[in-house]
Amino acid sequence: MRLHVADHPLIDHKVTVLRDKNTPSPIFRQLVDELVTLLAYEATRHVRVEQCEVETPLTTTTGTRIADPAPIIVPILRAGLGMLDGMTRVLPSAEVGFLGLKRDEETLEAITYANRLPEDLTGRQVFIVDPMLATGGSLIAAIEYVLERGATDVTCVCLLAAPEGIDNVTDAVGDRAEVSVVVARVDDRLNEVGFIVPGLGDAGDRLYGVV
Ligand code: PRP
Repeated sequence: MRLHVADHPLIDHKVTVLRDKNTPSPIFRQLVDELVTLLAYEATRHVRVEQCEVETPLTTTTGTRIADPAPIIVPILRAGLGMLDGMTRVLPSAEVGFLGLKRDEETLEAITYANRLPEDLTGRQVFIVDPMLATGGSLIAAIEYVLERGATDVTCVCLLAAPEGIDNVTDAVGDRAEVSVVVARVDDRLNEVGFIVPGLGDAGDRLYGVV
């Protein structure tokens, strides 16, 4: 698995405001949207393209366009929904599949409650988005779903990750596929109840309120 930690002062600034417990939901949502747009620049560095002809007002020249089949973006509900608009803005031709995963608060295992992925992802580049990579259980489950449907090229975009979760994803993926994780920050650790420290709290609750 390839890990890319974004290194940019604007990303640092926006993550700091996200961490602030006094940042209200509307600002939090806006910052998540802005951050994913910045992270998408790195996450799409290896998006598949093909050459094409383009007619300018002066002549014809060779250009580049996103190759077929279109990439697919998979937000992990709920919190991943907050990153969907930012990704589709950068990759407007992408299709979108949905995965609903909820972490059991006792066992920390990911439970699937929704799955709307295409049956066949052969040849598709997949971009999984979820703000938080804590134990890695949710991301591993999502990666398994797309690999078993034939995907071989998976990029995960997260805002914060715990070192323990990165290790778990690395071990689970092995060398079965091209999997990259692009994150804004790798934090210090997980606490005893599986929250990222220093973190930003529960991203789903801060985006959408407490269920
Ligand atoms: C959070 C987060 C990830 C997951 C990370 O979602 O958005 O999906 O937990 O934890 P893990 O790496 O230990 O699996 P949560 O289960 O709280 O659901 P929500 O998005 O509906 O709030």
